[in-house]
Amino acid sequence: MEAPGLPRKETMKIAKSILDTIGKTPLVALDRVTSGLPGRVLAKIEYYNPGASIKDRAALAMIETAEKQGLLKKGGTVVELTSGNMGTGLAVVCAVKGYRMIAVMSEGNSEERVHMLRAVGAKVVLVPQVGSKRLGQVSREDLEAVDVETTRLTKKLKAFRPNQFYNESCAHAHELATGKEIWEQTEGKVGVFVASIGTGGTFVGVARALKKRNSQIECYAAEPASAPFIAGKKVTNTSHKIQGTGYSLIPPLWDKDLCDGFVTATDAEALRFSRLLSRKEGIFSGFSSGANVACSVKLARKAKPGTVIVTVLPDTGLKYLSTDLFEK
Ligand SMILES: Cc1ncc(COP(=O)(O)O)c(C=O)c1O
Repeated sequence: MEAPGLPRKETMKIAKSILDTIGKTPLVALDRVTSGLPGRVLAKIEYYNPGASIKDRAALAMIETAEKQGLLKKGGTVVELTSGNMGTGLAVVCAVKGYRMIAVMSEGNSEERVHMLRAVGAKVVLVPQVGSKRLGQVSREDLEAVDVETTRLTKKLKAFRPNQFYNESCAHAHELATGKEIWEQTEGKVGVFVASIGTGGTFVGVARALKKRNSQIECYAAEPASAPFIAGKKVTNTSHKIQGTGYSLIPPLWDKDLCDGFVTATDAEALRFSRLLSRKEGIFSGFSSGANVACSVKLARKAKPGTVIVTVLPDTGLKYLSTDLFEK
């Protein structure tokens, strides 16, 4: 039965569900953090998405593609490996569409992510860290352990596994939306794009969208300073604080032809820029946002005057309250 008093006319300016609000995020000039630099840095504020991260975009795309392909049927179960953000995005989508969601993640990810996942109806399976416990730091070895458990559970439950690291929909979502949004929001004036790499979906999708429109646009991959693996440089420590990124592997979605160069950020730089974003811009964001801005600033320092540098702020500081990202 329909709720009384609320006519369901499609002429109303309402979203039919929260899923309609995914994407179309604001692009904000970081003029206070970057004042005096020749390049201008603009950032997509991705915590505006309902799961409070950029991963909602890929989550929705993977589920809707699976529905179209008949891989996911009414009442089905979704199992996915996650550092928290993809799991939350999938849980949001599954809540609205009526699927059961199981998120498999490393114990090393911050506990807020576990709380939020459970709040939006996901079951969370935590995988112990390989070697010693390092809260807030997840290495390639930890990711491998999570992958083994995800494969086991998917088989056991005959579930659908989106397999974010291999799923082309991750890159498509960013090509069709995020990249197009950046192009339109800058009126085609974007000159440089920078992003950290987890699955690589964000970087690859946005770079494809931008280079298709103007092949002169330069796209830089941001990596942790201790693990510049994709750049082919020496990895000194696979464990770092930039959660969701820098797994010391070449992600299957990676396309080297889209990458014009690499920039790195240390944990300390990620932390410093995340704190600066809060204090100077009023933007409360996470570690990878700090890393992306640290890398953008490095490029802005060397840029031709007036160059427009765009990055993404993948998630919110609210997901890291238990970590040392902000002083208590
Ligand atoms: C906080 C955060 N930043 C960046 C990324 C990287 O995004 P992508 O997987 O599209 O490369 C992720 C991915 O999970 C993330 O959680």
